This record gives sequence, C-alpha cells and structure tokens, in this order.
Amino acid sequence: MSSEESEFGIIGMAVMGQNLALNVEESGYQVSVYNRTGSKTKEFKQQRASDRDIVATYELEDFVSSLERPRKILILVKAGDPVDMVIDQLLPLMEEGDIIIDGGNSHFQDTNRRVEKVEEEGLYYLGTGVSGGEYGALHGPSIMPGGHPEAYEEVSDILRSAAAQTPEGPTCEYLGPRSAGHYVKMVHNGIEYAVMQSIAEAYWAMENLLELNHEEMADRFEEWNRPLEAYLMEITVEILRREDEKMGRPLLQMILDTAKQKGTGKWTSRSALDLGVPTPTITAAVDARLLSSRKDQRGRLSELYETGNSGVYDGFGEDLEDALYLSIVTAYAQGLDLLTVASHEYDYSLDLQDVARIWKDGCIIRSDLLDPISESYSDSELDTLLASKKFRDDYRDGLNSLQKVVSAISKTNLICPALSASLNYFNSLTSERLPANMIQAQRDYFGAHTYQRVDEEGTFHTEWQDIKNV
Ligand code: 6PG
Repeated sequence: MSSEESEFGIIGMAVMGQNLALNVEESGYQVSVYNRTGSKTKEFKQQRASDRDIVATYELEDFVSSLERPRKILILVKAGDPVDMVIDQLLPLMEEGDIIIDGGNSHFQDTNRRVEKVEEEGLYYLGTGVSGGEYGALHGPSIMPGGHPEAYEEVSDILRSAAAQTPEGPTCEYLGPRSAGHYVKMVHNGIEYAVMQSIAEAYWAMENLLELNHEEMADRFEEWNRPLEAYLMEITVEILRREDEKMGRPLLQMILDTAKQKGTGKWTSRSALDLGVPTPTITAAVDARLLSSRKDQRGRLSELYETGNSGVYDGFGEDLEDALYLSIVTAYAQGLDLLTVASHEYDYSLDLQDVARIWKDGCIIRSDLLDPISESYSDSELDTLLASKKFRDDYRDGLNSLQKVVSAISKTNLICPALSASLNYFNSLTSERLPANMIQAQRDYFGAHTYQRVDEEGTFHTEWQDIKNV
C-alpha cells in the first residue's frame, strides 16, 4: 500500500469501476479501490492497474482509512439493494463531512431517501449520473452530479477532470440538490430509448421497404449522421457493417429480436405520467421493447394474419432521413419538457442549457444536435423545443416527410411506433383545437364531471339523459 493517503476511492470493481479508477488516476489523482470479492481487486491491480497510482484494498476499513479527509468515495455497484448495503457498511466507518457519490443508475426517489439518511449522519451524498458505457468511463464520460453544493465543490475538480473535455468545458456540471443528478440521468436514458427505437424503425423500413442490404443501409446512416454526429447513429453504422464470423453474414441478422431493459426508460415514462407530462415517443420505445419480448406470441399470431409490405413510394428514402431526424429531435424535446416540469415540481432549479451542454460529449445520447438545443435554452422563457427558432424551421421543413413516412409504413404490417408517436405529439402540441371537447362531454354524460364552455366562464353540467325514463 502507498504511504500517502488517496484523494479518491472507488467501490465496485466491475468494468465501469475499473475504467473510472484508471481514468481518475490518469487525471493525476491517487485512487483507492475496493470490491466485495477481493479476487477482482487483486486481478485488476496485478493487470490493468499494475503501474498505476492505484491502491488495492481488501477490507472496507482499510479502504476507508486509506483516504484523505474529507473522504470522497464513489460507489459503482448494481442499483437497488446493493447500494443501501454499501452505505450501511460505510456509514460507521466514515466521519462528518465525508462524501459518498453514487455513480449508478439509482432511482431518483431512492436517492432522495439516501441523501436524507446520509446527511442525518453529518455526511454528504451525491447522486450522480454517469453515462458513456465502458468506453466513456475510461476516456471521459458525461457526469451528472446532484446533491449538496458544498459536497460537489469538494469533488468538482476530480469529476470534471475525469469527464469528457469539450471546447465549452468538461461534460460535468453541478445540476441541483438531492436527486437532481439521478433524475437528469434517468431522463437521459428515456431519450436514449426513444432515439434507439426511432433508429431501429428507420433501419427496419430501409431493409423491408427499400430492400437495401446491410452495407447500403450503413452508408445511408453514415451520410445522414454527418450533420448530427450522433453516437447512437455512429454505432448503428458499425453494427450494420459487422459480419458474423461463424455464418459469414451480417451479425445483426443473427441477433434475436427481443429487446431487454434494466428499467430506466420505464422509470422515465412513469415519472412523466406522475407529473402529467406527455412523453409518447419515450413510452412508445418502452412499449416496443415489451412487445418485442413476446417472441412466442408474436410467432403464433403472425401465422393468423396476412402480411403485405407495399408502402414504398418514390422519394421514401429521402423522406425517411427527415422523419428520423424529427423523431430524434422530438425525443429530446419530450425529455427536456419533462425536466422543465420536474425541476419546478422538485425544486431542482435545473439549468437546461447546462444539461444539454454536458450531454454534448461522453454520454450515449451525445450529438452535435445538443449545440442548438443548448442554445435554444439560452432563452429562459422557452417552454418547449418546438417553439425554438431553429427547431421550428426544422419541423416546418421535415414535417411532410414524417407524415408521408408514417403513412406509408402504416399501410404495411411493419411498425413505426416511435416515429408515429413523435408525429402525433407534434400534431397535438401544435393544434389549437383537439377533440378533447368530446372527452369532456362524455365525462359529464356518465359521471356529471362538468365541463367548461368556449363562450362563457364557469363550470357547466348538462342533464344528458332523463334518468327517470332510463
Ligand atoms: C449510459 C446508459 C447505461 C444503461 C444502458 C442499459 O448512459 O451509459 O444509459 O446507463 O444502463 O444503456 O440500459 P437498458 O438495459 O435499460 O437498455
């Protein structure tokens, strides 16, 4: 063990923990590491960390006492009970002013509870979203910290130097009190789901309607991604080009079509529903994963119905590019709208310009699109991206393509739930009148729930039926 005390500690030596330890050390800090199973720590120290200023510890007591005060401990363990277990083990060993940073995908309500518990003991708890997968953890993730601002000040230099570096600064910014960081990370994941599903639908239409091969599809995505520089599009290109060594054909064809999920997309939709915020593209993406998981049922039902794929028309391919672009923009618009409402509801005081800026690099939803998004939010009055000058023009230019694509796909048995949800979201939000007058009349009819009139203030009820004669 090194004679000096370490400036930073990491608990959890799965790949994310290992990579972040190497990243933080690379930024010039001595790091202590600990894992419940010591063999993992030993292997890490002997192999990847052999010539690094990384102190391997095998007892939690040794780990804690190897750290300088106030201690700064990042926990990267599976979200849920393991986080509570680690906190319970740490608390008796730590001292006032020490800081626990939860870098996992914890549910924001768990984070609120943990902040309260840890702060009651005189310590600090920073619920911190970390995005970017294994590569990001090693080379610079996007870091979304929330919690007590004084605690953030203590760790800010370390986290900012480990984050991705952009011309506008590191992709790490203090976001707000309590669970603000984990809330923002949750919404990041909701957007991630919606963008992934939109891309998947475009791929599916290209393959089945345009009948392009994998190389051709990769070329198109590559071209479409030039102005966007979106990570999720970039990986789509690579995925489409990858061959299965065993079969000598595109690997994608060999991957089972049932999507799994750890739950952050569902949490986003659930929280949006709780707060009364419509996020239909995100929810469509969650539903699409659920539907995909019904593989057996899908197989059985597909035999009961005829299929037909005659939805393509001249110019479909070009329209598809615009349709995908608008669906992606709409995914961000819904996520940011949710953040606006949540910030108000939970007193996070989020700065959406900052949020967009720290998503610009390092994270899974990174894209050059985040520049105009961040710029749009320099207008503090902006209530939705649909109203921003830049995106208003984009919607005007691309809307017809989105309509035509959704309509063409809908004439087939192919699916486009995210594209279609984005279109309906846009149409609803930009319609001065909606058929909700009918809903109100129905509610009043069967439940005397009352309605308002367009020509008069007040609350009204109509006796729709003559009860005596019913
Ligand atoms: C990230 C990702 C990551 C997430 C995976 C898997 O920002 O690095 O969002 O945190 O865990 O993408 O999520 P699902 O299993 O829900 O698809």
